[in-house]
Amino acid sequence: MSVANLYPVTEAFAAQALINQDKYKEMYQQSVINPEGFWREQGKRIDWFKPFERVKQTSFDDLHVDIKWYLGGTTNVSYNCLDRHLEARGDQVAIIWEGDEPDQHRHITYRELHEEVCKFSNALRGQGVNRGDVVTIYMPMIPEAAVAMLACTRIGAIHTVVFGGFSPEALAGRIADSESKVVITADEGVRGGKRVPLKANVDEALTNPSTHCVKQVLVVQRTGGQVPWHNHRDVWYHDVMKVASSHCAPKELDAEAPLFILYTSGSTGKPKGVLHTTGGYLVYASMTHEYVFDYKPGEVYWCTADVGWITGHSYMIYGPLANGATTLLYEGIPNYPDVSRIGQIIDKHQVNILYTAPTAIRAMMAEGKKAVEGSSGKSLRLLGSVGEPINPEAWHWYHETVGQSRCPIVDTWWQTETGGILISPLPGATALKPGSATRPFFGVQPALVDNLGNLIEGPAEGNLVILDSWPGQMRSVYGDHDRFVQTYFKTFKGMYFTGDGARRDEDGYYWITGRVDDVLNVSGHRMGTAEIESAMVAHKDVAEAAVVGFPHDIKGQGIYVYVTLNADVEASEALRQELRQWVRKEIGPIASPDVIQWAPGLPKTRSGKIMRRILRKIAVGEYSALGDISTLADPAVVQQLVDTHQGMQ
Ligand code: WTA
Repeated sequence: MSVANLYPVTEAFAAQALINQDKYKEMYQQSVINPEGFWREQGKRIDWFKPFERVKQTSFDDLHVDIKWYLGGTTNVSYNCLDRHLEARGDQVAIIWEGDEPDQHRHITYRELHEEVCKFSNALRGQGVNRGDVVTIYMPMIPEAAVAMLACTRIGAIHTVVFGGFSPEALAGRIADSESKVVITADEGVRGGKRVPLKANVDEALTNPSTHCVKQVLVVQRTGGQVPWHNHRDVWYHDVMKVASSHCAPKELDAEAPLFILYTSGSTGKPKGVLHTTGGYLVYASMTHEYVFDYKPGEVYWCTADVGWITGHSYMIYGPLANGATTLLYEGIPNYPDVSRIGQIIDKHQVNILYTAPTAIRAMMAEGKKAVEGSSGKSLRLLGSVGEPINPEAWHWYHETVGQSRCPIVDTWWQTETGGILISPLPGATALKPGSATRPFFGVQPALVDNLGNLIEGPAEGNLVILDSWPGQMRSVYGDHDRFVQTYFKTFKGMYFTGDGARRDEDGYYWITGRVDDVLNVSGHRMGTAEIESAMVAHKDVAEAAVVGFPHDIKGQGIYVYVTLNADVEASEALRQELRQWVRKEIGPIASPDVIQWAPGLPKTRSGKIMRRILRKIAVGEYSALGDISTLADPAVVQQLVDTHQGMQ
């Protein structure tokens, strides 16, 4: 490794950091030699009503996968995120809300947030929501989204947040799968100056018979725009809050009580409801937030993720609030009104720590210096990246232009399933290499295996697995424990399979190479190829579809769809547009295909399996690298596809 690509921890940063190199080594050793003792100690970072009796009971054996942490303990997430801070920092700002328009913001203190959450908890109870009930949250990025989540945790309801960019169809699927009793939404969202018809989308979703589980829809007024109303079902947030009491004791919940469900895409079938539970999740979110971001009391921390993704859960809401931090919640998009917005917000709120995604960094980078013109960025101390591998070019731009060569970058690798960060530098302890997520967090034991599941030692490339449990790990797929076992523990026996490939270098640093399964990563959003394909074939004119990813300058990966039309259908530009619209409607704009190529036939093996390897190569024009095509049922289709692709260039 050339020295130019190694960024040692600066003395100045190390001197003030929570964890330096020696401390990291010592704590990491302890965490893997004596996990019980290590996590017993860390368990104390949250308040327990009843102390836990046993630290962990975990098994990755595929015949009896079992993951339980802090057994016997009882606690409450909203209590830990709010009540316990009131005495010392009740008047400190908990949430800074920055609106879509640059002249809108709000400051909400811990005391105010506590009161709002207590009231809304009572309001939810008034609507018949009890412990164990599931509540869908389909909200814009407004403080009420955090209030809704925290209120659910206060009364022991299980929330499932659905990204506001998902279509009514996608929303209905999640509501039905989780059997939600209540939906919380807003009249409309606002993003980049445009309104998003959230309430209307909910109405449409609820016309689907599979969503009859929903009894009430609670609606926050965000824009005051006209929305359809159903008196028997719809209730205004401000109406129930007016009469709700601000006293609400937090429910005493078991450490393993379900906390939330979050749907995520896999390589096959419908999105999975990833289930996280109470105690271990909060310990892990809180600990990783503090150490990875080297968080000190009083600092302003900004994670740009949407609340509809796991990053929004763990590192915008739960981790920061459990640590008594000031967390910034931004309603809009990075380039509205223009590309300088992120820099403007950093200055306006004196942000110290910025956590964002490579896709946002590349979008800023594409505009050169404009992104930082007119802002000083002086308050920044640390930068973070998440969601996909960060290419070294974007890393350098982020480091030099946003971080002014002063701020370390923590490139954090993790997943919806892992609940929190598993591989990342600790900024006071780890020398950085652009593009590498570096080393495991405390208690995390990553390893590489070949395709047969044999462990590979030393510098190597392979499938990334984790050998032992950590407290933030998902516990099950909601309603389908067998799918949980099948997806994560059957591929390589006795190990958690991440679905990612990685390389380990001579210093033991990990470099994530991307998904090794049929999952795409588009602008940091996970998309299953199977999901897009099934949306496609649901269109009346489509006989068959195959989806692959291809490198995309801004999004990381773009969506490339090969479509075989029904025999009597004529291919046309109008139909191409219609299919794009169709996918937007079935899933949401994030699934919109970048390229649609007509395919009279698809390359299949004799047993009917589509050879995506070939389709990936054609999509990028690497015709000479198609490999062996002699095993195909009809090798001639390959030439047809190559000809069509060439014709499109
Ligand atoms: C990818 C997001 C490289 C990876 C927290 C993983 C990354 C998937 C990184 C999970 C990173 C996430 N470097 N790849 N720093 N972070 N990924 O569930 O492929 O939305 O499996 O969780 O994103 O995406 P998810």
